[in-house]
Amino acid sequence: MYYLSLFLDHKKDVYLHIESSQIMINLAILISGRGSNMEAILRAVKREKIPVNPAIVISNKPDAKGLKVAQKLGVKTAVVESSGTKGGSWEYDQKIVSVLEQNNVAPKNGLVCLAGFMRIISPEFIRRYQGRILNIHPAILPAFPGLHSQRQAVEYGVKFSGCTVHFVDEGVDTGPIILQSVVKVKDNDTEESLSKRILEQEHKVYPEAVKLFAEGRIKTKGRKVVRV
Ligand code: GRF
Repeated sequence: MYYLSLFLDHKKDVYLHIESSQIMINLAILISGRGSNMEAILRAVKREKIPVNPAIVISNKPDAKGLKVAQKLGVKTAVVESSGTKGGSWEYDQKIVSVLEQNNVAPKNGLVCLAGFMRIISPEFIRRYQGRILNIHPAILPAFPGLHSQRQAVEYGVKFSGCTVHFVDEGVDTGPIILQSVVKVKDNDTEESLSKRILEQEHKVYPEAVKLFAEGRIKTKGRKVVRV
């Protein structure tokens, strides 16, 4: 009986292995600048064998520092220049979607991580990749959504702030929350010093959220994200 169950477990492992390789997730990361969260994700994917295939890094800025970092890590990059286009426009986002499609990051097998992508994305893009777009925000949402969250936190005088990884919905920083990490705010903190400590946490929680998603260990229930 013991041997049988070992055998069955072994069979199950094989089955699970085959199943997970069939649904390998193709990962796209969208950046606009330095790309430190992108780098943290790409390094964690390799180090922790997160079951995703880093397919493409896309920047809307040709001079984004993160592009070179991605190339050094052996990941393909693309630039979809956004200057002169309006944030939230489907006309621009369609160009991003076509790069995603060319790289086989599709709604059925893709994961799109926004990592310092400084643009509002359109409802059409969000609906197409429903439940497959993640974002990191440098505050404990729903506090301090939008821009300059660390500055807002220092000026408001909160004693704790941090970061949030969430699914992207059609609001600004309003989607279901996957993970958060809290950082204590010191009396003498500046926007810079607080940003630096929050960023250290971002580099931990974003890869962790990608892992949870890739391993199929989370699902959304209404606006809650629960472990499965
Ligand atoms: C991070 O603080 C992230 O939370 C925010 O933009 C910043 C991007 O930094 N959305 P990086 O490009 O990942 O270094």
